[in-house]
Amino acid sequence: DDLNARDKKSNPFAEQKAWEDQQIGKATLKFGSKNKRRKCDDEYDFVFEDQIEFVKASVLLEGDQMIANGNGDVGKVQPTHELDKLREERKTLPIYSFRERLLQDVEKNQILIIVGETGSGKTTQIPQYLHEAGYTRGGKKIGCTQPRRIAAMSVAARVSQEMGVKLGHEVGYSIRFEDCTSEKTVLKYMTDGMLLREFLCEPDLASYSVVMVDEAHERTLSTDVLLGLLKDIARYRPDLKLIISSATLDAEKFSDFFDSAKILRIPGRRYPVDIHYMEAPQADYLDAAIVAALQIHVTQPPGDILVFLTGQEEIETAEEIFKHRTRGLGTKISELIVCPIYANLPTELQAKIFEPTPEGARKVVLATNIAETSLTIDGIKYVIDPGFSKMKSYNPRSGMESLQVTPISKASSMQRAGRAGRTGHGKCFRLYTSYNYDSDLDDTTVPEVQRTNLANVVLTLKSLGIHDLVNFEFMDPPPCEALLKALELLFALGALNKVGELTKVGRRMAEFPVDPMLSKMIVASDKYKCSDEVISIAAMLSTGSSIFYRPKDKQVHADTARLRFHSGNVGDHIALLKVYNAWKEANYSTQWCYENYIQVRSMKRARDIRDQLERLLERVEIKLSSSNDLEAIKKAVTSGFFPHCARLQKNGCYRTIKHPHTAHIHPSSGTMALEHHVLPRCVLYHELVLTTKEYMRQVTEIKPEWLVEIAPHYYQLNGVVEEDYSTSKKMPRGKGRTSTSKQIPNLVDYSICV
Ligand code: CDP
Ligand code: MG
Repeated sequence: DDLNARDKKSNPFAEQKAWEDQQIGKATLKFGSKNKRRKCDDEYDFVFEDQIEFVKASVLLEGDQMIANGNGDVGKVQPTHELDKLREERKTLPIYSFRERLLQDVEKNQILIIVGETGSGKTTQIPQYLHEAGYTRGGKKIGCTQPRRIAAMSVAARVSQEMGVKLGHEVGYSIRFEDCTSEKTVLKYMTDGMLLREFLCEPDLASYSVVMVDEAHERTLSTDVLLGLLKDIARYRPDLKLIISSATLDAEKFSDFFDSAKILRIPGRRYPVDIHYMEAPQADYLDAAIVAALQIHVTQPPGDILVFLTGQEEIETAEEIFKHRTRGLGTKISELIVCPIYANLPTELQAKIFEPTPEGARKVVLATNIAETSLTIDGIKYVIDPGFSKMKSYNPRSGMESLQVTPISKASSMQRAGRAGRTGHGKCFRLYTSYNYDSDLDDTTVPEVQRTNLANVVLTLKSLGIHDLVNFEFMDPPPCEALLKALELLFALGALNKVGELTKVGRRMAEFPVDPMLSKMIVASDKYKCSDEVISIAAMLSTGSSIFYRPKDKQVHADTARLRFHSGNVGDHIALLKVYNAWKEANYSTQWCYENYIQVRSMKRARDIRDQLERLLERVEIKLSSSNDLEAIKKAVTSGFFPHCARLQKNGCYRTIKHPHTAHIHPSSGTMALEHHVLPRCVLYHELVLTTKEYMRQVTEIKPEWLVEIAPHYYQLNGVVEEDYSTSKKMPRGKGRTSTSKQIPNLVDYSICV
């Protein structure tokens, strides 16, 4: 293979190696081994190898209808007008020839399952066909759900272009914290979570004539709950049409769930894809991915590259490395355009990935598994699949949830490979061995409902009046333990009463489109007269991306800037508030963000979220009140997050209080960055993240007695100091037990029943 034939010494990228050499270190990623975790985020370091070897396994993907030569593909139509061009393009999509059949099937069946290869036109075309056929008459809407916000936005944008209307008018989208629809909107793309929330205001979805649950194979938690709810309302709304569409072939399962609903299959077009494996497992997939992409760039014929990475930080790191390694190479190689795509990518930059690659250049798209099926990027010929994605994992016994980089499933890796064969014969480079593939990857991904905290969904279902959760029709039921844990948490937060009914607090909490602990914190801010501050904190915690900007070459400046917000060792939550307030004081200035090493995009998003939360406060009749009392603000935060508390151990680690579990303060926390920092005795954290260790992110010191004051049903003061040390068998006993912990009241579990 020419990819392997290159002479190592002539590698132009070797010249750039010095930069990476500073960061040499062995990362610890291996398939199949116990230590699957990759170092990432702040802790990141990597090994660089000049060249990696692939073994071609010559596996071809079986397409429904394979095309060996370049006919039948999207024809390049000479545009007389932009709209005409798009109209012609629509006709070239595989789904086009099924238009009439599809409309007939929808007319004859209330529920229809549609299966079709990614890129066949399901998402963009079906709602339009239905609109053209009159399903939106009388102002009724067609709703189409997507598991990912970025897919909802970009598809809506595309469809509005195809229809020649302004986005937000006839065609709009609705995602959490952003509603781009109007009175006129008849085609509404939205996240599955948003449709779920619509049930709260419109339990029978009366304004919809058709609901299309798209990308159903992703089996997100919201999609699964939607399927159950939709199945239920379809019984008493015979006029409502349901379409369940999916990219993979588990159509029978969906059909069975909907009492043998009809299946319509759209044959895909797919070219063969050669699969290449690694000869030996890679120590660091990020580095291997970058090297592989660069190798493809210098040795392979034209065609864009798609690299699957696990998250925003990783993508940003890769982007930086690509820029660095290709810098100064001058005319030796052609231009490599790096296009990142992940959930929080700002709208302006999203369009870039769909723009055609200029002549002579090559595009490398760095994507999360968004690009697996939700988005179709034309022109991809090479796929690099490291075999990982970031997944939520949840331990129902302890109630601990964390984000973790996990090997993907075989189904996912097939989907990823398939992205290379859309416009021609493609190649997929798997950064793992064929042995790994066979023995380490599960066949399919476990549905989210079986591996997540259900508190949010239980609260939503309860507010929809669904009390019998055990008998709710889930396609795959969640573990009973997880349901109980969710009920228990909601009870502890005061959202449910002892018999599991929604309380007034719970009703208020359900109005906020955030997790129950956050919504409880907001509701509790009323009591502490600091709702103004608390919604700012909530917004800052909900941006989904980091607030602080820390470029590699200016880390010292960035850290100094960041520490200013931490003066007085106020904790990360108050620091976030200070950032927000300072930005507001600076008139929301972009310049201010640059000067203070703050991510301007995250701030803009925080502002939007905050505006929404403020509106919602009004709805639940909480007055906007402001307070300077930091203790009051922290107590409000504690009212929501008391289940997330940890206490310092003698060995310098933390142990979560409720379900003893070792954790560390994330290096990004201000608590760790302060000079001469003393580790706080008792902390509250926003979330746990698992990288090389279990880290607590967004940490604030609290007084243990607050826990007893705020959540007496959850924590009790234990008279005997250090009792939990001496009774806990797992704790090291003996020497070194000094009086340091003596001032801390001891806390023990108080079991609660639901
Ligand atoms: O849903 P499905 O994967 O079946 O296909 P689709 O998303 O409806 O995409 C159909 C066509 O629209 C593809 O050729 C895409 O390249 C194009 N498209 C686009 O150009 N821009 C978007 N934002 C979405 C789709
Ligand atoms: Mg689609």
